[in-house]
Amino acid sequence: MNTSEIPALTDAELKLLQTLVYQECGMHFDDRRTPFLQDRLQRRLKECQLDSFYSYYRLLISQQGKQELSCLLENLTVNETSFFRNKAQLDLFQRDVIDEILRRKQERREYSVRIWSAGCSTGQEPYTLAMLVADALSYFYLRNPLAFESPLPKPLVPAPWRVEILASDINYSVLRAAQEGSYGEHQMSAVDYGYRLRYFDKMGDRYAVKKNVKELVHFDFHNLKTEYLPQRNDIIFCRNVMMYFDEAEQKRLVEKFYRCLNPQGYLFVGHAESLLGLTEKFQMVHRNSGTAYQRVEVKV
Ligand SMILES: C[S@@+](CC[C@H](N)C(=O)[O-])C[C@H]1O[C@@H](n2cnc3c(N)ncnc32)[C@H](O)[C@@H]1O
Repeated sequence: MNTSEIPALTDAELKLLQTLVYQECGMHFDDRRTPFLQDRLQRRLKECQLDSFYSYYRLLISQQGKQELSCLLENLTVNETSFFRNKAQLDLFQRDVIDEILRRKQERREYSVRIWSAGCSTGQEPYTLAMLVADALSYFYLRNPLAFESPLPKPLVPAPWRVEILASDINYSVLRAAQEGSYGEHQMSAVDYGYRLRYFDKMGDRYAVKKNVKELVHFDFHNLKTEYLPQRNDIIFCRNVMMYFDEAEQKRLVEKFYRCLNPQGYLFVGHAESLLGLTEKFQMVHRNSGTAYQRVEVKV
C-alpha cells in the first residue's frame, strides 16, 4: 500500500481511536496534537496492512491486538529527556529535600530511601537522581560521620543506608535503552567532567553508566493510567508526563501519587507543569527557582 492508498480517517474513527488511547494510557490529543496522532495511526495502519481505520480499531480492542496496542502507544509517546534536566529543581532536590529526608529517617533509625522516576524514558532522569543521591549521602556523612569506618573502596551508598530508585515507563523500547545505560556524546552535553569521571566508563565513543550507579536503579513497566502503582515512595519524579494528559486525568494521577508517597513525601513535576488547581493535598516548596510539592498531612 503506498501513501495515496491509505484510506481517509473519518471523524468518527478518529474519535474512537482517540478515546481508546485515552482510556489505555491517559494521553489526550487536543486539536493541536491531532495531526501527530493521525500521522502515527496512518503509519501503523500501513504496517498492519489493513484497509480501514475501523478495522484497525477492531484489531486494537481484540485479544490478538494487544501487541499492536502497545506498539501504537509506544509510537505515540514523546520520549525527549536529558541528564540534569531543570538544574534549579535538582538543586532543590539535592540540597534540601534529600537532606531533610536523610535527617528525618536517621532520627527514626530507618535507613532506606525510595525514589520513583515515573515516565523515565531512556534513563537520564533516574541515573541523574542516582548520582545526586550518592553525592548527597557522601556529603551527609562528611557532616555526620559514622561511628565506624566504611571499608575501602567506599561503596556508593554506605551502610546502613539503602537507596532504591525505581524507574518506570509505558514504553518498552525506552526501558530497554535505559537498562542498557549507554549514551553518546550528544546526550552527555549536560554532564560535567566530574560526573563523567566518577560515574561513567568510556567505551569507544560512548559513555556507559558505571555498575555501582546502575545497581541503585531498577527499571520496570508501569502504566500511570492504572491503579496498581508502586507504593511507599519518599520522593516521586514525574516530569513532562502529565502535560500530555487532560485535567481530569491529571487530577486522578496526582491523587494516586498522594497515596504512593510516604507521609511528608515530595513530588516533582516538570518545568511547564503545576499542581495549581489540581489538588489541595500538596503544598508548594519553592527555592532559588526550583519547585517541588510536599504531601500535606491531615491532622487528626
Ligand atoms: C517527555 S518524556 C519525560 C522523561 C523524563 N521524565 C524527563 O522529564 O526528562 C515522557 C515519558 O512519559 C512516558 N509516558 C507517557 N504516558 C505514560 C503512561 N501512561 N504511563 C507511564 N509512562 C508514560 C513516555 O513513554 C515518555 O517516556
